[in-house]
Amino acid sequence: MKIAVLVSGSGTNLQTLIEQLHQDETSGIEIAVVISDRRKAYALTRAARADIPTHVVRTQDFENRVNFDAEISRLIELYAAELIVLAGFMKLFQSPFVRKYQNRIINVHPTLLPAFPGAHPVADTLTYGVKIAGVTVHFVDEGVDSGPIIAQAAVPVLDTDDEESLHNRIQVEEHKLYPEVIKWYAQGKLKVEGRKVIVKC
Ligand code: GAR
Repeated sequence: MKIAVLVSGSGTNLQTLIEQLHQDETSGIEIAVVISDRRKAYALTRAARADIPTHVVRTQDFENRVNFDAEISRLIELYAAELIVLAGFMKLFQSPFVRKYQNRIINVHPTLLPAFPGAHPVADTLTYGVKIAGVTVHFVDEGVDSGPIIAQAAVPVLDTDDEESLHNRIQVEEHKLYPEVIKWYAQGKLKVEGRKVIVKC
């Protein structure tokens, strides 16, 4: 199965997908293209090192967000990607794009959703003072981090944590969970029933 991975930043999740899926022939999963909305995203270097085609699509180069989404959609079709994997991609799509790819876009978010959606999730987690944090992998719907939840993993919040130490602990779990969920998708194990995602084992 071909997937497209969309990134904005460092790309540690992309790196684990490269190593655990793309470079493992038994996975049956190929990263056909990596798309970034930022030229300087280090994720682009990681993709290039693995000989994966890359494209930069920036919002400022388009008249509006519908046109931005349309360019991403063109690339998805060009590379025949069946699943769109958001891995630290920090832009929201407009409704037509989300509807076109219903149940074919997944996202990883560094909180136990529905807690702390949005752009500063780890800082919000610390500010609130919760004792358990974690990661969520979910389908993307038309809201912000609000789509049906596929899988979650929890980590403790320590009294000594700052944003970096907590995010690092969460990312250890992200790097295990995200490749696993993509394998489930490729193997046809995910069934969406309203808000619930059933994982068939
Ligand atoms: C990840 O922790 C991911 O959960 C988060 O961005 C980070 C990207 O790291 N995504 C979001 O906050 C989406 N709302 P990476 O570039 O090293 O993979």
